[in-house]
Amino acid sequence: MVTKVQVASAESVETGVLIVISSEKNGDVSPLSPSGAALDSTSAGWFSEVYATGEFSGKPYEFAVLHRAPLVKAKRVALLGAGKTLDVRKLAAFAVRHFRCQAESIALVVDGASAETASAAVEGAILGSWEQDHHKSTGKRENKIAEFTLVVPGGDLAALTAAADRGRILGESQNFARDLVNEPGNLLPPRKLVEAAQTMAKTYGLECDVLDQDRMTQLGMGSLLGVAIGSAEPPFLVVLKYKPAAPKSTDHLALVGKGVTFDTGGVSIKPADGMEKMKCDMGGAAAMLGAMRSIAQLKPGVAVTAYIPTVENMVGSRAQRPGDIVTSMAGKTIEVLNTDAEGRLILIDAITYAKQQGATHLIDAATLTGAIGVALGAVHTGLFSNNDPFCEKIMKAASDEGEKMWRMPLDDEYRELLKSAYADIGNIGGRAAGACTAAMFLKEWVEDTPWAHLDIALTAYLDEQKPFTAKGATGVGVRTFTRVAMDW
Ligand code: BES
Ligand code: ZN
Ligand code: ZN
Repeated sequence: MVTKVQVASAESVETGVLIVISSEKNGDVSPLSPSGAALDSTSAGWFSEVYATGEFSGKPYEFAVLHRAPLVKAKRVALLGAGKTLDVRKLAAFAVRHFRCQAESIALVVDGASAETASAAVEGAILGSWEQDHHKSTGKRENKIAEFTLVVPGGDLAALTAAADRGRILGESQNFARDLVNEPGNLLPPRKLVEAAQTMAKTYGLECDVLDQDRMTQLGMGSLLGVAIGSAEPPFLVVLKYKPAAPKSTDHLALVGKGVTFDTGGVSIKPADGMEKMKCDMGGAAAMLGAMRSIAQLKPGVAVTAYIPTVENMVGSRAQRPGDIVTSMAGKTIEVLNTDAEGRLILIDAITYAKQQGATHLIDAATLTGAIGVALGAVHTGLFSNNDPFCEKIMKAASDEGEKMWRMPLDDEYRELLKSAYADIGNIGGRAAGACTAAMFLKEWVEDTPWAHLDIALTAYLDEQKPFTAKGATGVGVRTFTRVAMDW
């Protein structure tokens, strides 16, 4: 799907469906945008009529379609409800999802669109085009839309086009992450995730270093290797490096992503019901790969390196047992009280390695705990940080990118719950505050480096589709992490 911007009046645009956003009727206030009002007069009051009959009231994702509208070049005109607050990203995504099997081209009219809005509209259109059906032989909802146009009746075409291009890169990178997340465990074991990272790095000119089991053994990554031992699939640590040509900062940002390609829980095995969703347990890794894909193209002024520990958490005769004690790269010993709390075990060795390699700031993303879902549902990603200014930076980037994040507490008291009778620390803290104790466990290895941890367990994968998005992988984090680097 090609995406472009056209600075033109709505009625002059040649397209399959011309979409006009209209907000919810509010008393006597006319909800029509300037373009909507202009089209209302060329169509002899069609817009006012659909409002007046009650056929359309502008509620979110409501729409009314007019065929062969007079004096308009488009084949069809659609009114699309925006409610009171819906953003352009979601509306564009809905428009593509809705018309994907019905039109070869669509155009969305946004009066007075800023660069930011243009970028969001294109992101939305690309995100809305995503559907994973490449494993289906029949019943595909293939996207027929070859061209998406953002129509801005007045504006600076060059600036809007540049912004739309940034939106395209972000949207495509997010879909790249979603494709990886949705791929099942058999088709995307760690070695395949490594291949995907290598191919992406080659395409966009990133340096890529892959640590195999032997290198990790030499480095003493006992915590990461303990998780991997139950699987026939070998573990890896992928390192992707972006170096700015003209650095604007001496900082070095590390992006660490949990890459468990499938999580059975190990010997502390998970219940069968819903276990298939654990293919999403590399959602953190995918988010960081997606962010690196866009960072490589958008070229921020700060050095960014991604560290992706990837393993499969399996059961088997060689698998790690509850009660096993492992030694992490930093030397601290861990009693593995539950083999299903494996994400933190692979992340900490990657964090130690990132610090050793010179990271000055750390962000990790991980589908870490079901408990974050109990606290925040699938609405907000849980954000934990040991540094207020750094946390603010991430909150701001997330809000600018329309990704909801909520700060969670990291008080020292949570550390007490992780006590072990036999090792320096246990890998679980009991039922209470599960997301907080998981974050606290990571903090033990992060120490004082400014750090943010994003628990995306419930935001990385949607159980049900929504008007603006398909079921499955969301690619959450890609836009925020890219923005953090761009705003550095
Ligand atoms: N991968 C899971 C967390 C998860 C849950 C991701 C739901 C996506 C959706 C993680 O490895 C895990 O199993 N965590 C345990 C921790 C517990 C044993 C302390 C959990 O949340 O139950
Ligand atoms: Zn687990
Ligand atoms: Zn897991």
